[in-house]
Amino acid sequence: MLETAKKILVPARRAKYAVPAFNVNDLEFLKAVMSAAEKMKSPVIVQTSEGAIQYAGMDYLVAMIRVAAKTKVPVVMHVDHGKDLKTIKAAIDSGYTSVMYDGSSLPYAENVQNTKKVVAWARRKGVSVEAEIGALAGIEDLVSVAEKDAKLTNPAEAARFAKETRCDSLAVAIGTSHGAFKFKGKTHLDIKRLKKIATLVPLPIVLHGASGVLEDVKELAEKYGAKLGEARGVLDADIKAAIRHGVAKINIDTDLRLAFTAGIREAVHDLPKVIDPRKLLEPANLLMREVAMRKMRLFGSAGRS
Ligand code: G3H
Ligand code: 13P
Ligand code: ZN
Repeated sequence: MLETAKKILVPARRAKYAVPAFNVNDLEFLKAVMSAAEKMKSPVIVQTSEGAIQYAGMDYLVAMIRVAAKTKVPVVMHVDHGKDLKTIKAAIDSGYTSVMYDGSSLPYAENVQNTKKVVAWARRKGVSVEAEIGALAGIEDLVSVAEKDAKLTNPAEAARFAKETRCDSLAVAIGTSHGAFKFKGKTHLDIKRLKKIATLVPLPIVLHGASGVLEDVKELAEKYGAKLGEARGVLDADIKAAIRHGVAKINIDTDLRLAFTAGIREAVHDLPKVIDPRKLLEPANLLMREVAMRKMRLFGSAGRS
């Protein structure tokens, strides 16, 4: 069934597990994610970025996710990194049950002002709002302490922001970054900073850029020609620590993209006579499903629906 994010994230933070939020752009990703959620009896957040909305069209995405949500597990239809207020308004009016307003690159006052506007629109329709404070950046890119403090989420500012905006969940920057190249050297998240944030902000905390860049999936993709070099993700141990300290929603895009790429490369290589796209897509689909299931086990959301 379709649910708001608030409904499934508040219990998650309380019971110290996290709900996975997977980015989808098309039917293949959606089918894999839903099949994993049903198998694992896990609540799930299906999120579409502005890029996904441009690619597939909001109407197509909404229609597909509505159908997918006709199931026993709770499903949230969420806008990821909404920066354009018009798109967010359209999503609220089209049946999304949750939206993220991402004003993290704006000055504080403007971020607050826009987030408040979105919260007001969303409340009228019972839609949840995720907001963001702090800028995602790999910790290794931030060399000095001053630089870290300027970019990563400031705990006191996060508390003030949450109070002022009345958002339902808060995305924070503690050293993760988007994509497959998260760390140059040793992987490291600022869990100490997260602990401080979590003591001051009672809301479900959201971790973006949380893909693990799974070694076996990376190897499979490389075996069939992908060139992924120093691609490196967040360690499982850091994910677990983050969940212990208030993270209740974890965003995963890269790990599914990687699984899709590996599966497609293998199928195209191994099935040179096949031209039926459904047969070429099937291994990619199964691998994405398996990766999604691994996340549900790791995050502790399995069995929580
Ligand atoms: O955080 C960004 C997500 O990975 C979505 O990426 O904008 O390429 O769809 P995208
Ligand atoms: P990854 O690139 O680590 O999968 O992060 C995705 C994300 O944060 C989407 O908002
Ligand atoms: Zn993100």
